[in-house]
Amino acid sequence: MSKEGARADYLRLVDELTEHDRRYYVDSAPTISDFEYDKLLKKLRAIEAAHSDWVVSWSPTQRVGHAPISAFPKVVRAVPMLSLDNTYDLGELKDFHDRVLRGLGLAEDQAEQVRYVVEPKIDGIGVELTYERGELTLGTTRGDGLTGEDITNNVRTMRGVPLRLREPVDLSARGEIFMTRADFAALNEARVAAGEEAFKNPRNTVSGSVKQLDPRLVAERPMQVTLYEVVAGETFAPSHFAVLDRLRALGLPTSAYNSEAHTWAQLQEQVAAWAERRATLPFDADGLVIKVDSFDQRDALGTTSKFPRWAIAYKFPAEQVMTVVTALEINVGRTGAVTPVAILEPIELSGTTVKRASLHNWDQIRRLGVGPGDQVLLEKAGEIIPQVLSVVKSASGKTFDEPTECPSCGHALARAEGRVALTCPNQLACPRQLLASVEFFAGRGQMNIDGLGEKVCQALLDAGLIASVADLFILEREQIVALERFGDTSAQNLIDAIARAKQQASFSRLLAALGVPLIGGVAARAIAQRYRSLGELLQLIDSTEPGEGFITALSEIDGIGQTMAESLERFLRDPAARQVLTDLRERGVDPVEEVVEIDESAPLVGKTFVITGTLSQPRAAIKKAIEAAGGKVSGSVSQKTDYLVAGENTGKAKLTAAEKHKVEVLTEAALSDMLSS
Ligand code: IVH
Repeated sequence: MSKEGARADYLRLVDELTEHDRRYYVDSAPTISDFEYDKLLKKLRAIEAAHSDWVVSWSPTQRVGHAPISAFPKVVRAVPMLSLDNTYDLGELKDFHDRVLRGLGLAEDQAEQVRYVVEPKIDGIGVELTYERGELTLGTTRGDGLTGEDITNNVRTMRGVPLRLREPVDLSARGEIFMTRADFAALNEARVAAGEEAFKNPRNTVSGSVKQLDPRLVAERPMQVTLYEVVAGETFAPSHFAVLDRLRALGLPTSAYNSEAHTWAQLQEQVAAWAERRATLPFDADGLVIKVDSFDQRDALGTTSKFPRWAIAYKFPAEQVMTVVTALEINVGRTGAVTPVAILEPIELSGTTVKRASLHNWDQIRRLGVGPGDQVLLEKAGEIIPQVLSVVKSASGKTFDEPTECPSCGHALARAEGRVALTCPNQLACPRQLLASVEFFAGRGQMNIDGLGEKVCQALLDAGLIASVADLFILEREQIVALERFGDTSAQNLIDAIARAKQQASFSRLLAALGVPLIGGVAARAIAQRYRSLGELLQLIDSTEPGEGFITALSEIDGIGQTMAESLERFLRDPAARQVLTDLRERGVDPVEEVVEIDESAPLVGKTFVITGTLSQPRAAIKKAIEAAGGKVSGSVSQKTDYLVAGENTGKAKLTAAEKHKVEVLTEAALSDMLSS
């Protein structure tokens, strides 16, 4: 055979195997046995081994093999990925239908002129695939809609995604990456057998897997893709159904579960039918997507700033299951709040195994009348947090008793007047509260001590190395090295991190880090502008009588109310808390707040800014400049925001929020002009 002939045979073999992959992975209808497939693949590998220069990028042998990367490049897309308006409510679905008819100028008895496509809403993660001249060249995640991440090498490992289409067309299509329940179960079984931890649910597994930097790992996670939208190239089809037909003809995976409807009665019927049918799907679906089929009609309906008006997601109602409450666990939080948690006989609910559910407080326990051994009805609120809805069958007629003592320290529990929450008042000595408060003190946004998470805090407390947050600042390297989880370097790193935190702290951050109830970052900043150090604040409290001057003086500060002042007074007059403050000061943790002078004639007085995106200077510097000119900076765009300073790569969410609240968007240059005016 001529060399050209042999090469052509090789290419035909690639096509043949590609076709078999499609039948197997996309249609679930293989036409040859695994044995025959393997034989063809072996033949292909032999040819490729002999003629490495023949190997084409779309050969089935080329799915994996790209080296791990350090990060996914960002890709800005020309057409943003919109999301869908969604509802759990049949009434709102009817409103959608009515809006569609009205938008198209049709009466209810003309509903036949609209065709809806009803698709299961796959609970996976959004993806966009780009083919150039028929070859897969790009796969991106949804990201924030506008900017996604280039996960091409990972997408290539998904066997249902053709590396080459049946025709050499240019095309960008969108869809969902997901894992079937069966593949998920098999994957978990293999993991457990190998001594690895089982994954929680298919969706999380997919979203974690596509972000793996090593494609070889991704290849071991059996993921699939279903496409449902074409965004570029090949957009000549007149309707959604026609697009799906075309995608299928090109060899691309589309849903096998779509149906059509016209009238409201038909939509209702299908929604009702899916309540049962949902469980029979091979993958998790969290609802239905209902779309107008005709592209002319879609154009006529248009989109809002966020959503197309021609589609809606109807979310399935939360799944409910029954299980048994085996015991009650009593948790103690950082501020001493005591919360009851029901320990459950493990049960599958909407994709995860639920073992516990918060009962919130004892009022709730009495309302439910829940006791040991009771059979209860469980639901996931917002599909995430398990809630006990009701007692179905009581085991003994008994209700869990309210505890009188703290389960962590034995201190008598208290309940503030008119409040439902029980608390342990032993703030500074209760082990659970101490752990939580040290962790909070060290956390992001407070003292920012790197490497001081829950486990390390617990180890320090258990070893008796600290009894309060002040003791962190007398820790020595040798003491830390002696702990089980530490070596020389890690111990030194922790010492350095603590020293750095001490040096960089401001009084307001220190005050917030103490975790005084009601005194968060914003309140602490306001207080620190008036009383600029622990010394000043303590002087104030020592020169006033309890319950009088301090509260009056603090309430004069903008943003500080009576209850906040009372809470701070209680803390500062507590002898144990006072000791911690004294220790902190003696150990050099005694920062003085920098005062932000407010000059009423300053250009930005009374204006609130939000800063976002990449700017020419660090955000903190821009914030300082705004504050020096009398302005305020806050974190999220709301009605109270006056300006959004938008740098490069500004997320769409911020811009949408700015539009919604009629907030003026400024470039960095425009901000400079304002600052210097
Ligand atoms: S259509 C503009 N169809 O659900 C049309 N989306 O908020 C946008 N999804 O972002 C999407 N199954 O990630 C569509 N059959 C389906 C879907 C689907 C799942 C996801 C998708 C989208 C989100 C809707």
